[in-house]
Amino acid sequence: MWNIWLCRGGKDVTPILVDGLRKLEYRGYDSAGVYVAGAGVAKAVGKVAMLAAELENNPKVGTAGIAHTRWATHGVPSVENAHPHTDNKGTIHIVHNGIIENWAELKTELRVVGVIFVSETDTEVLAQLIGTYYEDNLQTAVATALKRIRGTYGLAVMSTKYNDQIVLARMGSPIVIGVGQGEHFVSSDPSALLAYTKNVMYLDDGDMALVTEGACVITNKRGNIKEAVTEVIDWDATVLQKNGYDHYMQKEIFEAADVVRATTRGRMLIEEGAVKLGGLESVAERISSIKRLMIVGCGSAYYAGTIGRLMIEEYADLPVEIELGSEFRYKKNFGSTTTAVLAVTQSGETADTLASVRIAKELGLLTLGMVNTVGSSISRETDAGVHNHAGPEIAVASTKAFISQLTVFVLLTVFLGRKRSMSEAEAREILQALEKLPTVIKTFLSDTSHIKAVAEKYAQARDMMFIGRKLHAGIAYEGSLKLKEVSYMHAEAYAGGELKHGSIAMLGPDFPVLAIAPNDDVFEKMMSNVAEVRARRAPVILLTTNDVKISTDEADEVILMPKVHPLLQPIIATIPLQLFAYYVGVARGLVVDQPRNLAKSVTVE
Ligand code: M6R
Repeated sequence: MWNIWLCRGGKDVTPILVDGLRKLEYRGYDSAGVYVAGAGVAKAVGKVAMLAAELENNPKVGTAGIAHTRWATHGVPSVENAHPHTDNKGTIHIVHNGIIENWAELKTELRVVGVIFVSETDTEVLAQLIGTYYEDNLQTAVATALKRIRGTYGLAVMSTKYNDQIVLARMGSPIVIGVGQGEHFVSSDPSALLAYTKNVMYLDDGDMALVTEGACVITNKRGNIKEAVTEVIDWDATVLQKNGYDHYMQKEIFEAADVVRATTRGRMLIEEGAVKLGGLESVAERISSIKRLMIVGCGSAYYAGTIGRLMIEEYADLPVEIELGSEFRYKKNFGSTTTAVLAVTQSGETADTLASVRIAKELGLLTLGMVNTVGSSISRETDAGVHNHAGPEIAVASTKAFISQLTVFVLLTVFLGRKRSMSEAEAREILQALEKLPTVIKTFLSDTSHIKAVAEKYAQARDMMFIGRKLHAGIAYEGSLKLKEVSYMHAEAYAGGELKHGSIAMLGPDFPVLAIAPNDDVFEKMMSNVAEVRARRAPVILLTTNDVKISTDEADEVILMPKVHPLLQPIIATIPLQLFAYYVGVARGLVVDQPRNLAKSVTVE
């Protein structure tokens, strides 16, 4: 998977391209490269800083260009495999996000006619293919080549013959065009454009665009010119800064109170015991008649879904299923038109989740999105939805988006519950607690020194296990994922009651267990599981609520969190686990914002 950043305007484009790449680096950081019209190509393995150093030694000056930071799919991170890729004549330069599935057969075919490949990438196959079709019209050559392609792409192409033309094409990988004063900026992610313009246009699947001096003409899959629809991004460029924190991950964890506030703003009608979700109004009737909800997501979004499922089933009395985005397509028996599919996703671009939405649409099911990134593919392709309003999340490990997802699930639970059996009084009680939650979080986050000390004590452990029950089983899985992502420590998670069915065999003095046991209706059962763990001499870090007295016989470490309404407790419980992972990653000297092998949005299936 790759990230495109390109721009054209009257200015020297290279500093703008490099700045854009730095903003997109969190989406892939194996190698980076630029092509500047009239000046040529520069590439470097590793982070964008390596490319910037290369450009200092060999400057490239021009007014239009394309650039790219890569997350490797086909071929190791190397200069040869870095984008932009070029055809044998050196005329075509392309950057590409996505995967060309039939690259191998096309490569064989091109080799037969004498094409020599210099990289292992599928993207070079596309560059060479375009090169073979190119005579004088770049857009025609790209369109002809794309007819031969199976797979996904977000593509930007330039030719050395026309320094003022950039051709774009989209199928499955996002492209957003920023409209400036007599100039255009293009990116795979709107966050890279914020410093230059907030006016954007999105390409749809099958669209192509020709960007020339001061103009951008978009055509649809039938080749007809589309009316340009400009939207305004409502993010402020300052949200992309670290604001005094050492890392984005730290900053984003500490933003939790603001996130809950932003996610709930204008949506709680506390006195009426009701929730207003404007994005669902257009499908209000269908929602009232649904008999089954199917949640779909990947990674952290999936874990948020497992918790949302329990919330909705218990409080809103609606049967809910949850499925991984990557497994959804294998599912049978989707039910009837009274089933709704809810896609949960921060980026709105996760290929597996997007594919699930498309399958659901084909089946005639109501598709809903819980999406953070406004204008993303999933927010545009679902029938209706709820935006998270968490703001852009830069650290690769999801933190504030997860908090926001849990918060939206609370809102959704009340929203759906009030259409069924939830009383006005119960809804009011939940919403009153939710209104107070940002203050509770702020106080909780005012002193994190104990969590840091515990994390540092266990930072060099080889293995770690997380356990929890009911709503907090999902939190255990999320805590374990966070730790794995940013510390590379082997971590596992189980529902507390499941341990004794096998995995307890692994435990011993070197295998710490973090048990999430707030004082709720399963507290005693969790403490029995904790006792089982301690009987195997595994150290226990107990995360519990501050209304509980724990003796030193019951746990090795205790982390206390404020007790809140049971529906909101998972939101609170998430914070110390995110901090724990962060502090362990930092103690291990790792690059917590950009863990190895990961990318922020996974736009390949
Ligand atoms: O953008 P999405 O929410 O759809 O992303 C889903 C997962 O790729 C994502 O949550 C991933 O697991 C994160 N790295 C978790 O921290």
